Amino acid sequence: MNQYDDCWLRYERVTENDRLESYRRRCRHAYVAEKAPEHGAIRDELRRALPDLLGTEPHFWQHPPTTADGFLAIGTPEDMTMIADSVPADDIAELSSGGYLIRSVTWNGLDCLVVTATTDRGLVYGTFHLLRLLNVRESIGDLEVRQDPAYENRLLNQWDTPFHRSVERGYGGESIFDWERLPDLRTRYEDYARLLASVGINGIVLNNVNTTKPARASANAAFDEFEGWQLLESRRLEDLTGLASVFRRYGIRPYLSVNFASPMLVGDLDTADPLDKDVQAWWRRKADEVYDLLPDFGGFLVKADSEGQPGPYDYGRDHVTGANAIAQALKPHGGRVWWRAFVYGSHEDRAVQAYDTFEPLDGDFADNVTVQIKNGPIDFQPREPVSPLFGALSETAIGMELQITQEYTGQGVHATYHLPMWKEVFEFDTHADGAGTPVKSLLRGDEQGIVGVGNVGEDYNWTGHYLAQANLYAFGRAAWSPDLSVETVTDEWVRQTFGADETVGDVIKDILRRSWEACIDYETGGLGLLHMMHNGEEHLENHYYPSPEEWPGYHGASEDGIGVDRTESGSGYVAQYPEPIADRYGSVERCPEELLLFFHHLPWDHELEDGTTVVQRLYDNCFAGVDEVKRLRERWHALEGRVDERRHRHVAERFDEQVSNAQRWRDALTAYFREYSGIPDERGRVRRDE
Ligand code: GCU
Repeated sequence: MNQYDDCWLRYERVTENDRLESYRRRCRHAYVAEKAPEHGAIRDELRRALPDLLGTEPHFWQHPPTTADGFLAIGTPEDMTMIADSVPADDIAELSSGGYLIRSVTWNGLDCLVVTATTDRGLVYGTFHLLRLLNVRESIGDLEVRQDPAYENRLLNQWDTPFHRSVERGYGGESIFDWERLPDLRTRYEDYARLLASVGINGIVLNNVNTTKPARASANAAFDEFEGWQLLESRRLEDLTGLASVFRRYGIRPYLSVNFASPMLVGDLDTADPLDKDVQAWWRRKADEVYDLLPDFGGFLVKADSEGQPGPYDYGRDHVTGANAIAQALKPHGGRVWWRAFVYGSHEDRAVQAYDTFEPLDGDFADNVTVQIKNGPIDFQPREPVSPLFGALSETAIGMELQITQEYTGQGVHATYHLPMWKEVFEFDTHADGAGTPVKSLLRGDEQGIVGVGNVGEDYNWTGHYLAQANLYAFGRAAWSPDLSVETVTDEWVRQTFGADETVGDVIKDILRRSWEACIDYETGGLGLLHMMHNGEEHLENHYYPSPEEWPGYHGASEDGIGVDRTESGSGYVAQYPEPIADRYGSVERCPEELLLFFHHLPWDHELEDGTTVVQRLYDNCFAGVDEVKRLRERWHALEGRVDERRHRHVAERFDEQVSNAQRWRDALTAYFREYSGIPDERGRVRRDE
């Protein structure tokens, strides 16, 4: 990866002598299976990593090594008798697809290391895990690591707009995918696959959920532009085979976002009615063709009846009918439809819609349909309550969609770490099955899983901001194991990305740990308000600047108060939660302060628990958020000389932009609150816009 930043796959030379010696003893010689494409990827990774880490080329043996040192053996027990000898079948029989075992063993008197699994994909993950241990200088003398992913589906949604070289809500530069040049491949594809596989991601939806321009989404419009729906055309599918084979070596299955009206756009039918026999047959033929070319294809992702995309409503059908018509085509191939629950339009309170639409359909979706639900009921805001759909669909396979890219949290400019937010969501008790039913417990099984909207682009550092690499890393790790603590994941990332200097590590961890709350404070005031951003046409400014006046319905500011009444006297949204959640959120006294104004419209001078008024708390939080970011910037500055110049300067510059944007948010919001409330800031900081 020399042309681009290595992110967390840096492999810097081990200088600690005792570690170096023990790593060399067990890893300089390697004996790696050679039967599957994944094995080739493993060898390549060892060839990249070991010379850099150990200062010496690995010696790959064709047969069990006969050496004075020990060796590293990677394969399934069927691949190698040495592994079958060292790991009794029972020891790995229970591992799921993707699980692995890393064990230090003595074999023929030699100190060896075994990475084994029941699947080739598991071997890839095991290898990356081992390299992570070397990267953070863990002892490997006595290893017994057994890992199984919590979720079968750990998918990346690439919101790539094919042929336009852009990524919707992508802040890391242009798209890395050069669609026009496929089947030609770029080394960057492999590096991307490595990054994803190293954190356990096993599927990638290659294109944007928006597959037509909304203005052209009507079933009768002329579709004459290159758009994502075209990827289902035969010649485009053929072009994809090479790209898919790159990902295949890393255990990553390809998926496509498809347009509901594909039978008309790609095919020549005059309807996409899901009950039409010709439409169903078209989807079957298309699925057969896809699987002929891409045998490990994962399935189709569909955004239907949302933001101008066509869908079953165009034909008076519901989402079940729409999803099942496509699912029946994928079924013989083991493919799956990921059907998004992100639909809105008809309700005055948008929060209500997803549950209203999907809860009545519970139990009717085909078993190879997964309903993909955003973490909150609105749209990836800095903080939202958890969507009540989690826990409401007990008879439906569900997936949770998180946003890795920072659409509403400062884009590629602000250092905003999403893992603490995701952790909060994973741990949220839905009470679906009585107390103690956290979201994370609802997503298990072959049909369910976690989906992240990606943040990678053509920038040298991949994600627009060096620290945003942490969000991609953390997403993969959390999707692998939502039980991992924020501290553990962050520590792993920091040590691999910035090395062993503890001062550096402590500062960066502090920045990441505090960044999300700071963003909430300056972008919302911290009491549950949201969606107050500018929605201009300019690509990079959209959703970046404040503009509360554009969105009165989302924050409910009026002369008598602020917040949105979502209780029974308002939109009634709160009743979508089971008890005791509905009761807690529905009560002004018991509603957690950080969500108070999401659920309640309250007088500006309503007193919070500590006696502060609502408006004063909003002022205070907005100021506190900016102060916090300034403090974090200072902390980063103090690392000058300890972090390489390139990264240090880049992040320092981003912090300058962040501080100025945070101030803009603070000033716009506080002026707006001041204007409406007519109540001055007790501390005299807020000027009234005359
Ligand atoms: C948000 C986002 C869009 C995206 C949509 C979706 O509204 O701003 O860019 O298309 O979510 O998730 O479908």
